[in-house]
Amino acid sequence: MDRIVINGGHRLSGFVPISGAKNAALTLLPCALLTAEPLTLRNLPRLADVDSFGHLLNELGVSTAVAGAKPEDYGRVMTLTAADLASTVAPYDVVRKMRASILVLGPLVARAGEATVSLPGGCAIGNRPIDLHLKALEALGAEIELAAGYVKATAPEGGLPGGHVIFPTVSVGATENALMAAALCRGTSIIDNAAREPEISDLANCLVAMGAKIDGIGSERLVVEGQASLHGATYSVMPDRIEAGSYACAAAITGGDLVLGGAPVAEMAAMLAALAEAGVTVSEEAKGLRVCATDGLKPLTLSTAPHPGFPTDMQAQFMAMLTLASGASVLTETIFENRYMHVPELARMGADIQVRGRSAVVKGVEGLVGAQVMATDLRASMSLVLAGLAAEGRTEVSRIYHLDRGYERLEEKLRAVGADIERLSDG
Ligand code: EPZ
Repeated sequence: MDRIVINGGHRLSGFVPISGAKNAALTLLPCALLTAEPLTLRNLPRLADVDSFGHLLNELGVSTAVAGAKPEDYGRVMTLTAADLASTVAPYDVVRKMRASILVLGPLVARAGEATVSLPGGCAIGNRPIDLHLKALEALGAEIELAAGYVKATAPEGGLPGGHVIFPTVSVGATENALMAAALCRGTSIIDNAAREPEISDLANCLVAMGAKIDGIGSERLVVEGQASLHGATYSVMPDRIEAGSYACAAAITGGDLVLGGAPVAEMAAMLAALAEAGVTVSEEAKGLRVCATDGLKPLTLSTAPHPGFPTDMQAQFMAMLTLASGASVLTETIFENRYMHVPELARMGADIQVRGRSAVVKGVEGLVGAQVMATDLRASMSLVLAGLAAEGRTEVSRIYHLDRGYERLEEKLRAVGADIERLSDG
């Protein structure tokens, strides 16, 4: 397994290109299942999860062709064609590696009339059930059966009729599954209490480009007039707001000055407001979002929430940054029940953090000290890299396959702005 080694203490300065959004890519890829025509996705990030999803689609009979990008380019152009589906089964050994595989359920049952997907296991940040996905598809007319660790969704003769989905709690993935299925229902569907993450608007805009009829994009009520079929399209993946926020924290924790090229500022309001409250200067420039932190960091009280609230995917990164603030911060994680796996690892670097139920009290310390630490999940691993960038001495982060799921060419981007960082392969 690969490791990352960082010799910390360098202020970062310069330009970081922001890649296409992982969480948009993972819901745009299954859109290919909704049509027999080619769907071309541009600005697709080079990520392990994107590759895994491509392999899953190949198993279902989707052809994928990557073109255009030179190795040194960021992002890729991928054309996906699901002319004839070879299978409607997403097997356990694929789903267990990537929870987002569940996002083939809605498109498959809408297009092919049936879909069988392995139940995703839990993961490091909680058990993450799929009950909301299944209830949504039932509301659209699918019959749901659970057996032997798989879920099977079946449409009635003639296809899914559509219906009224009312989510009791907000779910990004379940909203995405429902929206993709509703696009091909026979009638009109309403999705209430829909998640409003920007990646869902990206999905809706891609579906509209494919001929779907969707009202209320960006709101918690989506009205979808189902179409008999959708056509192909060419669509560009939106920039990754969480990657951009992560590099903003890299500027903040090192007292640096970074320009984040292509950062989707309009989708980052909550995290940018938090950075400003912490004393970080954020400003929009021609080349991108400038993040400058030369005057130290103030403590914060933060609570994660569905968009447009403070994103749960930024909690670990902000925690790393706040370990060096001039006082005590309180972070509360309201979305996942176990998203503090980074705390014991940060503590090994000298951070002073007390977890109390869903909240963590982070008392600022004078400095962090490099150590050997272990990544446990995607965003936790980024928080350890951030801490390593600021720590005195050498930090070694193991199990960085977690990082490769969500950050395109991380070491390259950080080295280019002054970090002393390298990847060591045990292979
Ligand atoms: C998406 O996960 C993102 N993943 C996550 O990003 C992100 O943290 C999450 O949304 C919240 O914003 C992708 O988009 C691929 P949810 P998802 O359904 O869809 C519970 C990252 O780091 N729930 O909104 O799985 C669930 O357990 C990843 O990039 C149910 O109870 O999140 C959680 O507590 C991590 N039943 C809460 O809802 C369900 O059927 C929110 O989950 C579904 C979810």
